[in-house]
Amino acid sequence: MKLLSAITAGLAVLDYATSYPFESYFGSTRVIQLSKDTVRTVSEDEKLSFMRKGIKFMDITNNFLHLKNNENLEDAVPRYNYPSKTLREELVNTIIENIDKSSMEVNLAKFTSFYTRYYKSETGYQSAQWLEHNLLNITSGVSADFVSVERVIHPEWKQYSIIVKVLGSETPENIVVMGSHQDSINLILPSVLAAPGADDNGSGTVTNLEALRLYVEHYLKKGNRPKNTIEFHFYSAEEGGLLGSLDVFSRYASEHKRVVAMLQQDMTGYVQDPENEHVGVITDYVNSELTDFIKVIVNSYLSIPYVETKCGYACSDHGSATRNGYPSAFVIESDFKKTNKYIHSTMDTLDRLSFDHMAEHTKIVIGSIIELGDWSFLELK
Ligand code: BES
Ligand code: ZN
Repeated sequence: MKLLSAITAGLAVLDYATSYPFESYFGSTRVIQLSKDTVRTVSEDEKLSFMRKGIKFMDITNNFLHLKNNENLEDAVPRYNYPSKTLREELVNTIIENIDKSSMEVNLAKFTSFYTRYYKSETGYQSAQWLEHNLLNITSGVSADFVSVERVIHPEWKQYSIIVKVLGSETPENIVVMGSHQDSINLILPSVLAAPGADDNGSGTVTNLEALRLYVEHYLKKGNRPKNTIEFHFYSAEEGGLLGSLDVFSRYASEHKRVVAMLQQDMTGYVQDPENEHVGVITDYVNSELTDFIKVIVNSYLSIPYVETKCGYACSDHGSATRNGYPSAFVIESDFKKTNKYIHSTMDTLDRLSFDHMAEHTKIVIGSIIELGDWSFLELK
């Protein structure tokens, strides 16, 4: 046992030494939330050791905004009147017919070719640059007056988050967010070992990329604009404890922005049992009205059903939206128990994934932005 902890401590030192230099200035202590009522201050090494042991937490070092120790954070989120049925079936079906799985595969092959997309690494910075370049290409045919690609710089680490904004024409203050995290991690030695992160979360990244590509091609290029603002968020540092998305949503909250819906794509490509293919609609740490709307979208536009499932903790960036007072939903590749077991290792590779399945998730994203883009949002009391 002693030998094992000596090895782990050695690994942590080695990892620390190879980390981004900013860490030595900012990273000495972290505040982490382990459960609704457990918050602890730990060192960067202790945090990494918790991660290796599979202990789940949010890193809230810079997110004291909503530290009210609210027992039921979900209840503090405003409720809105989402559509109870789909209204734009013809348009959505035309767009989703054109989902290009080979383009998704090319993008995922490139994205997983970075040695790691760890948020403190140089290659994690380069992968963000590649992603940004791709987003600029996709959106280049649309007027810069209403589509922008913006970096969100995080002062404590190098990999930036990226936000693509489609400014609404009538009620731009209502913001609909499609989220995914771009970083990957190898949990054994994050700064040393490879982390292809094909499923976690290259898959969610290319799911949203393909939805944006088609949205631009079939809707925005015709001169159509949504009434509400639509944003695509590509978060950095989710694997460090939701760091990038907490940064984004706490800035939004302090600027009093009105996010009316946030839908996360994280792990969209793995099918354990092809005889029983389905998506998993997460029901904890989410908004139940928005989640009901997502079920309507799945029933209308997908060729596979959903099952309800739970992570049991705030397992991805939707948790950051909820924490900052915004309604969120999360659809994962399957029932939680049947999700990809190779994540956070060198074995999270593209050859284990199904592009048909990722395409089903892309349908959810396209259905959601078309249906919610022109929706009149009312807050329910
Ligand atoms: N994609 C995972 C979340 C996940 C894992 C969903 C397994 C379903 C099955 C995400 O990238 C992740 O690793 N989250 C962390 C927690 C987070 C707060 C750092 C986790 O699950 O350990
Ligand atoms: Zn992960």
